[in-house]
Amino acid sequence: MNTVLLLVLTVGTLWAIQKIVGFRRALVSINSHPGLRTVFSIRGLASLLPRIPYITGGRNKAWQAKHSAFAELDLDIVSFVSALPKASTGFAVADATAIREIVGSRQRFPKPVAMYKGLLFFGGNIVASEAEDWKRYRKICGPSFSEPNNRLVWDETVGIMNDLFDNVWGGKTEIVSDHALEITMPLALFVIGAAGFGRRMSWNEEFSASAKGKGELSFKDTLHTVSEGFLIKLLVPEWAVPFRKRFREVILGFQELERYMHDMIELRRKAEKKEERYDLLSSLLDANDDPVNGQSLLSDQEVLANIFIFLIAGHETTAHSLCFAMALLALYQDEQEHTYQQIKKAIPDDRDPTFHHLSALDYVEAVMNETLRMYPPVVSIPKVSAEDTTLATTNSAGEKIIVPIPAGASVNLHVVGLHYNPKYWEDPYQFNPSRFLGDWPRDAFLPFSGGVRSCLGRRFAELESIVAITMILQKYKITVKEEPQFAGETFEQKKERVLKTKPGLTLTPVRVPLVFTRRD
Ligand code: HEM
Ligand SMILES: *[C@@H]1O[C@H](CO)[C@@H](O)[C@H](O)[C@H]1NC(C)=O
Repeated sequence: MNTVLLLVLTVGTLWAIQKIVGFRRALVSINSHPGLRTVFSIRGLASLLPRIPYITGGRNKAWQAKHSAFAELDLDIVSFVSALPKASTGFAVADATAIREIVGSRQRFPKPVAMYKGLLFFGGNIVASEAEDWKRYRKICGPSFSEPNNRLVWDETVGIMNDLFDNVWGGKTEIVSDHALEITMPLALFVIGAAGFGRRMSWNEEFSASAKGKGELSFKDTLHTVSEGFLIKLLVPEWAVPFRKRFREVILGFQELERYMHDMIELRRKAEKKEERYDLLSSLLDANDDPVNGQSLLSDQEVLANIFIFLIAGHETTAHSLCFAMALLALYQDEQEHTYQQIKKAIPDDRDPTFHHLSALDYVEAVMNETLRMYPPVVSIPKVSAEDTTLATTNSAGEKIIVPIPAGASVNLHVVGLHYNPKYWEDPYQFNPSRFLGDWPRDAFLPFSGGVRSCLGRRFAELESIVAITMILQKYKITVKEEPQFAGETFEQKKERVLKTKPGLTLTPVRVPLVFTRRD
């Protein structure tokens, strides 16, 4: 035989044996805990392929499978083991008690920061860091999400909704939207603009990503371009940028945002007397200047990177969940009517909601919670095991099962599996906001993660959503747009179509066509 061929065969065989040994060793390290076995890792490039049994894990699997992968094995912690590119073990967790333990011990289960490298282009920030850096960021960023900021979110959202009603929807009795994201994306952007950056924007100023005059974008266009072009910035290599207009626009957006933020930081710093302002940027800058030794705890670049990350963390998540909420209310007319009646009871004279109405609007909050249970924008939250340890779960017979978790294993909090786990949620596929009134299983609800690394913007997003839903329902009735091509469909088919999702940075509604009809 040809010696070259022999050499190739030998090397190939040795390589394969080494991979198989690695795979077997990985299985032994988790005591063969049941789960998914694939040749390729469920992360990385192979995750873009469709599911092929024993070869790949498939795309968007976490979302599609809901709780079924756990139910099949009668376990709320399942493993995944793969051989290529290198042997790896991981776990998906849909057990509320185990999740509480994981989010409660940041040392044992830190965030796998390597996965967040893409978020570092403006510098170190709260989302993409761990350990001492993260502590420093959280200490400065945390207090910005204060009670006065919450009130600002509330008031600015009221103003933005009124601007929409008065100046865009005007006196029209019926507003047809081909996709509700057209409303919720700008809405969430304007709220971050105002309550995050201290800059108001209006609906009537057109979006256009192309520069006005000398390579300058308006602030509104800048935020819009950056937030929606974020994935392009993340994925497109620098050399490819000149080849497409859209790539160039996105890069310009990022440069402009950096310029705006530097200007805003300068302005705030130079101001003779600090105004009382509670947008996140102002508060962050105030918190950053330590009055005792006159030093800044974060560099300007770090301030900029953190404010930028608020935009990325808070824009799409909130816009998508509001869009899902409107879709659900349009589909479930009884629920919409009930929510409307609750709003009327809370605010009998149809005035704009004020912060004082908050506690009376608990049903609207329940609608948002139920939306986030069924359509959590973040479908899974990655952690990694820092040491050889164990987690426990129970099967349906109530037997306790101890799962060995080796150091280095990835541990995914499977938000969707948890939210559709029938152990915690009766009839998990049913949209039923009232399940959130009274007692509900708090540990089985994880849209904002949990523990010390939970979402800083939770209140921000909740209040914005409550105001937006309240004000829309006060004035309009929401229905699914009738389209001739869908005339014969059943409710189930309609629901599937309107609530169809695709993967993205966060769970993305594909197309939610709605009609808003004035109530008076
Ligand atoms: C419905 C809307 C939102 C959802 C579902 C959501 C969800 C989440 C989740 C799951 C995490 C943990 C991520 C991880 O572990 O990698 C997180 C973290 C974070 N979110 Fe949100 N978020 C929302 C809105 C917002 C808003 C509006 C802001 C800011 C204005 C924000 C700021 C942050 C920040 C700063 C963190 C990092 C916290 C830390 O690591 O210490 N989020 N969010
Ligand atoms: C909604 O969920 C949050 C936790 O994310 C909780 O604090 C709040 O009490 C819930 N409100 C209602 C009305 O369910």
